[in-house]
Amino acid sequence: MSQETESRNLSAPLSRNKHLCRWVEKMVALTKPAAVHWVDGSQEEYDALCAQMVEGGTFIKLNEELWPGCFYARSDANDVARVEDRTYICSLSKDAAGPTNNWVNPYEMRRKLKGLFDGSMRGRTMYVLAYSMGPIDSPMSQIGVQLTDSPYVVVNMRIMARIGLQVFKEIDKDVKRVVPCMHTVGAPLEPGQADVPWPCNKEKYIVHFPESREIWSYGSGYGGNALLGKKCFALRIASNIARDEGWLAEHMLILGVENPEGEKTYVAAAFPSACGKTNFAMLVPPAGFEGWKVWTIGDDIAWIKADETGRLRAINPEAGFFGVAPGTSEKTNPNAMATLRKNSIFTNVALTPEGGIWWEGMTDEPPAECLDWQGNRWTPEIGRTGVKAAHPNSRFTAPASQCPTIDPAWESPSGVPISAIIFGGRRATTMPLVYQAFNWSAGVYTGATMGSETTAAAAGAVGKVRRDPMAMLPFCGYHMGDYFRHWLKVQRRLTETPRIFHVNWFRKDADGKFIWPGFRENMRVLKWIVDRSHGRAVGRETPIGWMPRYEDIEWNGLEFGQDQFEALQAFDHQAWRAEVIGHEELFIDLHDHLPPEIVYERELLICRL
Ligand code: OXD
Ligand code: MN
Repeated sequence: MSQETESRNLSAPLSRNKHLCRWVEKMVALTKPAAVHWVDGSQEEYDALCAQMVEGGTFIKLNEELWPGCFYARSDANDVARVEDRTYICSLSKDAAGPTNNWVNPYEMRRKLKGLFDGSMRGRTMYVLAYSMGPIDSPMSQIGVQLTDSPYVVVNMRIMARIGLQVFKEIDKDVKRVVPCMHTVGAPLEPGQADVPWPCNKEKYIVHFPESREIWSYGSGYGGNALLGKKCFALRIASNIARDEGWLAEHMLILGVENPEGEKTYVAAAFPSACGKTNFAMLVPPAGFEGWKVWTIGDDIAWIKADETGRLRAINPEAGFFGVAPGTSEKTNPNAMATLRKNSIFTNVALTPEGGIWWEGMTDEPPAECLDWQGNRWTPEIGRTGVKAAHPNSRFTAPASQCPTIDPAWESPSGVPISAIIFGGRRATTMPLVYQAFNWSAGVYTGATMGSETTAAAAGAVGKVRRDPMAMLPFCGYHMGDYFRHWLKVQRRLTETPRIFHVNWFRKDADGKFIWPGFRENMRVLKWIVDRSHGRAVGRETPIGWMPRYEDIEWNGLEFGQDQFEALQAFDHQAWRAEVIGHEELFIDLHDHLPPEIVYERELLICRL
């Protein structure tokens, strides 16, 4: 430990808040750690924890010249992703959680967790990690305290959220309610027992108690299971808070489009996991768009609230990016590559002999050899047999402040004004490149019925459309039908309603090839969306909404024929009939909570078809 950290008594509380101190004492008695460390959030403390993990084998320090301030970790092979089947919303009634969430009676679950957490931190240090989701000085921010026995979690959370002394100070003001978050990797150490690089437990529980606003996570040290500020708090618990307080906690990126005249327009966009949210949030305008700029506010989560004038404003509650590494490259996302160049943590990617990292898609040429995410020797020949060097869900944790396109207003306490909301999914057929919903309730219907084809990385049949309303299926902390009702109600607070759009970058032709080049060229669609949201662009009315004509899109710098565009935008009556029947599948499950507007919107759509 550094001198400064060493000279501090780590177990001395950094907060005067009696409730917090008493809760910590109670949880120490339950989990029985060998030591307690109140996290101050300093650079010295971060450096000391990283050094300690290098010594213990959890971290490998990367080559300082190539990857300054960066560390590498390999997880246990059984702890590589979020565990949706082990994720629970334990509301008082099963009905409140709805049919799309796992539910267990909260009394039964508490009993179970008490047993699991009893002595679960033996031989380890319990870290008391205070964090703020959102800028400290923002009235839209929320505070959590995570008790965790994972130093890996502490250092990742320091990148992903605002942590430490500044947050304890907020807690001591006693103004904001604090969300208690319990986390253990579930691997107590007996006296003298050697630790492993990635402790975890085969049994996993990711549990939310929405009424008491608590999170309990057992058995995993990975990503969304363990960095509790992200999916557990900022989406599942926050969606409950947002419903009660009249705002929206969404699985959305936020970006700003600046045109050559300097006018800036902010949009929020919801795509399911692994549909390119980070790429879109950091988009580089293509040739032909000189003078245009896209600014990044967030790549995963947006908290959106009406201000006193009735305009929606959004903050990114996170402070970093926890991005999927494979497929990220100088070509696909140069801004992400610049962001993760330094002070970042890489988990489950491949390690190169010179102390660098690599993943599939990072470069055209793979390294001649490296160690794969499980530490085995990997060569391009081995790669040709289908063995991946990096796990498909391997990640980088990188500070948002290092993003070259980070918006000057990204930490603005009042957030940024939202002019358009975009929904999207991965669809080979049926869904056009872009359309605009007729109004807010038609837009809510569009979001409620959005779907995405499952990829090889996801469970289930490849290519089957999985309905993922507003990309929130795994993240909505209450009944999905009530969630639609809440979306509809939010509009009543608005004097200026954002326009709602649907995009699909993934439509294929008869030969199975993508029709749209995607990536930078998505700027052309974004421009139409921005212009529409200011009432400037033209379009034509179709049964599903407003669509651009060929001449409504800016084609400067891209050869893309009218026939190709018509194929992308084609409206197929037969396919849409099947699509509406597909909507029914989800609605049947939700029927007793479905707001009437959703039923009417469906009827109107059928009439127009
Ligand atoms: C994520 C996800 O990690 O959506 O952001 O799975
Ligand atoms: Mn996500």
